[in-house]
Amino acid sequence: MPAIPEDTLQTLVERATAARERAYAPYSGFPVGAAVLGAGGQIWTGANVENASLGATLCAERVALAAAVAAGERQIQALAVVADTPQPVAPCGLCRQMLQEFAVPGCLVILANLQGDRQILTQAELLPWAFSWPGPR
Ligand code: THU
Repeated sequence: MPAIPEDTLQTLVERATAARERAYAPYSGFPVGAAVLGAGGQIWTGANVENASLGATLCAERVALAAAVAAGERQIQALAVVADTPQPVAPCGLCRQMLQEFAVPGCLVILANLQGDRQILTQAELLPWAFSWPGPR
């Protein structure tokens, strides 16, 4: 996979930051935004969508990934996640596993906060020993 240009990574963080404004987070008060970059350069965004049951809550990353997949994109080159945290926010375990399903080799994950701090990791660094379906017996 060719390197993703810095301005594209920055755009991804900006789109995630804008998506965060649309979070529905009345229970936690912790809005999160995410954006994913498809193989063709298209970007899809998501925000966390909470629920009174709490357990039915969707994280921003999984909302963005579902939007991409529902639009026909199954090859994710990069994902950015943004929250108002002292350190760049890291995706939860469920979101790492969902990204694993659609991440191209070398897929980047950009952890960010509102202060502009960033940490860039690969999906493989973020989720070593990921579960993969062993297939039918
Ligand atoms: N949340 C995300 O959207 N992404 C993460 O990676 C971590 C957590 C949301 C879920 C919930 O709405 C709120 O943050 C508090 O956990």
